Amino acid sequence: HGTSRINGQGHLEIGGCDTVELAARYGTPLYIVDEALIRERMRQFIAAFRHTGLPFQVAYASKAFSTLAMCRVVAEEGLRLDVVSDGELYTALKAGFPPERIYFHGNNKTPEELEMALEAGVGLFVVDNFIELELLAGLAADKEMKAQILLRTTPGVEAHTHNYIQTGQEDSKFGFDYQSGQVMRAAAKAIAAESLELLGFHCHIGSQIFETDGFSLAIEKMAQLSRECRSSLGLQTRILNLGGGFGIRYSGEDRPLPVSAYVEAIAAGVRAGFGEAGVPEIWLEPGRSIVGEAGTTLYTVGTMKEVAGVRKYIAVDGGMNDNPRTALYQAAYEAMLANRAKEEMQETVSVAGKLCESGDMLIWDAVLPQVKTGDLLAVSCTGAYNYSMANNYNRVRRPAVVFVRDGESSLVVRRESLDDLIRNDCLPERVPTAEP
Ligand code: LLP
Repeated sequence: HGTSRINGQGHLEIGGCDTVELAARYGTPLYIVDEALIRERMRQFIAAFRHTGLPFQVAYASKAFSTLAMCRVVAEEGLRLDVVSDGELYTALKAGFPPERIYFHGNNKTPEELEMALEAGVGLFVVDNFIELELLAGLAADKEMKAQILLRTTPGVEAHTHNYIQTGQEDSKFGFDYQSGQVMRAAAKAIAAESLELLGFHCHIGSQIFETDGFSLAIEKMAQLSRECRSSLGLQTRILNLGGGFGIRYSGEDRPLPVSAYVEAIAAGVRAGFGEAGVPEIWLEPGRSIVGEAGTTLYTVGTMKEVAGVRKYIAVDGGMNDNPRTALYQAAYEAMLANRAKEEMQETVSVAGKLCESGDMLIWDAVLPQVKTGDLLAVSCTGAYNYSMANNYNRVRRPAVVFVRDGESSLVVRRESLDDLIRNDCLPERVPTAEP
């Protein structure tokens, strides 16, 4: 992927940086991010849309990977930013991301989060439910502000993907139901609210999607909704946000389409559904397809175990705390030995983490050269939903993150220290009890 190659020493090189040197300099486990590839992906979305001639905006979904450095790249490339919590919002603001280009998602934004966003000048809210609609209208009115909103709806489309990451079907915790008329009622309420300005609608049908038919179907439903809103409420849909969900290639079995194919299918659907004259501005908010393939996690191999006739386990110095996706979604990853990248494949091993749980596996059946303790294992495609879903289970420290580009590496997240782990711990203050 991207700028990865094998150098003269037989080492994996990413962004012009020798990964063996990166391991020596920053330690392992280490998340390595190919900055050029991230920028290329962002530009591909923009170029594909320009090519269609439709009005558009591309946002990046912070949830896939959010750090100060990432927010800065998003700003430099001119994308918008989707945030879903005060933490993602705070990160963006601290990175100097223009607030008017940020928008706020989520099914249970707290009053504090909504206030923080209003005060920061966040440009748009994707309202998820009636309680939030009222809350936001009230808060904006108190501040004598007008909040621009989209309404999130579930168009009843099930994308072909893992159960836990489908979101467009009706039985979902997200958004106003379309079939039962909820979204129409919400639109009427939003129009009636002085402090709100309803610009359009949002839907997100799932994640890691390889086909275009789910998007086409969703667009048809959204076009129908727009027509109903125009005829019964006099509302012109100005923005249609179709979410993210574009698949990437984790392993040879995955067959994602190029970004341009998704965008072209979406453009065709929008033209057919809305008619040339009434086309709204089309927004997308990809996460995984921007950062997923740009990330590689580097581990050091430690212990090994052979279960005679069954399998060989190799254990690395990280695990489900830095990449919970194998355990959570049966995700399949590919790996190579970064320090002996040219050597012939000799054995099939399963890559385990170091955490106290049998399910702490990163890869089942990876084909590698004869693995030795001290080897560097590089797991590819870990840019999305790895660092962002990392945790401290077993009080294991989260890895550092480095950006690599043109032969230079920069640390963008420091490795957690042992003191970081107890930073927020407090001991209870007990009144000394009398001696018995
Ligand atoms: N927009 C909305 C409203 C979303 O819910 C999501 C992802 C995205 C955009 C970005 O989707 P993407 O382009 O990244 O597929 N933790 C799971 C993925 C959860 C996705 C949640 N929503 C995983 O590791 O596969």
